[in-house]
Amino acid sequence: MPANTVKFLSPEQPLADKPRHVAVIMDGNGRWAKRYGLPRAAGHRRGVEAVKKISRIFVRRGIPYLTLFAFSSENWKRPPTEVEALLKLLATTLERELGRMHENGICLRVIGDLSRFPAPLQRRIAEAVALTRDNRALNLTIAVNYGGRWDIAQACRSVAESVMGGQLSPDKVTPALVESRLCTRDLPEPDLFIRTGGEQRISNFLLWQLAYTELCFVEAYWPEFDAKHLDQALMMYARRQRRFGKTGEQVRELQA
Ligand code: FPP
Repeated sequence: MPANTVKFLSPEQPLADKPRHVAVIMDGNGRWAKRYGLPRAAGHRRGVEAVKKISRIFVRRGIPYLTLFAFSSENWKRPPTEVEALLKLLATTLERELGRMHENGICLRVIGDLSRFPAPLQRRIAEAVALTRDNRALNLTIAVNYGGRWDIAQACRSVAESVMGGQLSPDKVTPALVESRLCTRDLPEPDLFIRTGGEQRISNFLLWQLAYTELCFVEAYWPEFDAKHLDQALMMYARRQRRFGKTGEQVRELQA
């Protein structure tokens, strides 16, 4: 084992040196475009190319879960032309790439409040998810019209409905129960969070789910994020000791 690789403990993945689930904020498309004198939409289009490239690398590296923040609940505040361009890009990417994703064994999930999207897009998303549901090469989750606070609120609403309906007693409301109502309930917790573009914040992404996730902030803009940047993040992750509230000594003893 290389000197910079340490083994750690995680409830989902005991003694592993590779993350099982990586969550990414793909920031910097607009600044990348500006650097080259291009419109912001061109940056987002290059962002899609980076998504395709990185998905292939995840399959090769054997990292089974990748979750990407493509459109936040707050992105509606952007100029209408940019919102329109982003939504169109999501729809055309789905249209163009679905066949290839399916052939390559990608299982697609889409999380977020889809009710605000046009009905045909909602239908296409549901069909794509259904088509790819049994694929195993990579679990690719795209967060659209997603916000961490929205996710926690919709989980609370679901819990409240169960309590009001008499199916659940309030003393059974535990963190595990709330987690089972989040829209990431079918995914393991993210082990590694990457944000490109140099900003160091979570921006209402997976607020609940990132509680014990290792955070990595990368200067590169998303369209230029490649295998080299990913490997640097993976190396950094491998050097961290994940303690989950325990002491370093306890973790080392458990690993011995
Ligand atoms: C942040 O960059 C990026 C977004 C708000 C959208 C990300 C979307 C894509 C990469 C394309 C769609 C993805 C899929 C999976 C089809 P920014 O615009 O905030 O950049 P800036 O901070 O430089 O302005």
